[in-house]
Formats: sequence, structure tokens, C-alpha cells
Amino acid sequence: MIGSVVPSSKFLSKKMLDHLDFSSAEFVVELGPGTGVFTDRIIEKLGKDTTLLVIELNDTFYKDLKSRITDKRVHIRKGSASDLQKFMNELNVVQADFIVSSLPLAMIPDILRKRIIIEVNTQLNDQGEFIQFQYSLQSFKLFKKVFNKVSVRPCLFNMPPAFVYSCKKN
Ligand SMILES: C[S@@+](CC[C@H](N)C(=O)[O-])C[C@H]1O[C@@H](n2cnc3c(N)ncnc32)[C@H](O)[C@@H]1O
Repeated sequence: MIGSVVPSSKFLSKKMLDHLDFSSAEFVVELGPGTGVFTDRIIEKLGKDTTLLVIELNDTFYKDLKSRITDKRVHIRKGSASDLQKFMNELNVVQADFIVSSLPLAMIPDILRKRIIIEVNTQLNDQGEFIQFQYSLQSFKLFKKVFNKVSVRPCLFNMPPAFVYSCKKN
């Protein structure tokens, strides 16, 4: 369910997040935060009126994040990324500007993986961006099918080395 034995490196966090401007975004989503290495960096980059929705399936990680993150802009929910729309509806939000994901896609069954990626595409606004890392190019074909623009960059300074995907609707 976790898909990794160690948290991601600072280098991977930079490659995932440094180019993204959350300061004027209305709504940002993080899927599969785990211990929160990316969550902390996302919060540092949020605008004062930006809302962040964080969805984590694992009860221990969820409780830990809930107890340590008290920022009013951040809404932490326990559940599956496949229920993204439900969680957004609860916050009265229609679309997201950015969706950042560390979901272990390679370990998620085919049908659920497709459902999650289609859901992500549906919930993104037209100018939105989806950022995901993986330890392989396993989901590249799926991303190309669902999104109009897909780019991928390697991050060698991570254990294990990773690929960072950036996917856009337009
Ligand atoms: C590789 S860890 C990511 C941790 C951290 N972001 C990092 O990069 O070190 C993946 C996380 O995704 C969570 N996860 C797995 N399947 C999920 C799902 N369907 N919905 C939400 N979270 C899920 C796991 O519980 C785990 O915390």
C-alpha cells in the first residue's frame, strides 16, 4: 500500500514542486502524502487564500498528519484517491489547479489505477497540472492516453532513482 521503504529525498521534492506556482492557485490536492515530506513543502508554497486537500489511505499516516498540521488552509482526509470528487464536493470545490501525487501506482490494481487517473484528469481545471513520481515508466502509456501533454524527467538523487511526470489537459 505504501510502495516505498524510505521517504522521498529533498532532490525529488524539489523536482516535483519547485517549478509550480501555488501562490495564486485556489485549490491544490495532494494524493498519498505518507509521512508528509511533500506536504510540508507544498504548504510553504501556498498562497494565503489557497486551499490544500490532502488524501491519505493509511490510518497511521493520516492520524500523524492530522495531529501535526494545524494550518487552516489544509484539509486532511482519510480515504482513497479514487474518491477525489467526493472529497472536493464536501469542500464545495469544482476543480483543482494542481494535483500532486505520490500514489504507488505500480502497486495499485489496473482498474483502480485507471479510475484514479481518469478521476484526476476530470477534476483538474483546463490549465491545471498533475505531477506524479514513479520508480519506473510503468504508467507513461496510461498518462499519454488520458492527458494531452505528458513530460517526464529523471531524478537520480533519490533512493531508488525516480521519474517525475508532469501531465496537462491542454
Ligand atoms: C510512496 S508513499 C509516499 C510518501 C511520501 N509522499 C514520499 O514521497 O516519501 C505512498 C502513499 O500513498 C498512500 N496510498 C496508497 N494508495 C492510496 C490511495 N488509493 N489513496 C490515497 N493514498 C494512498 C500510501 O498509504 C502511502 O502513504
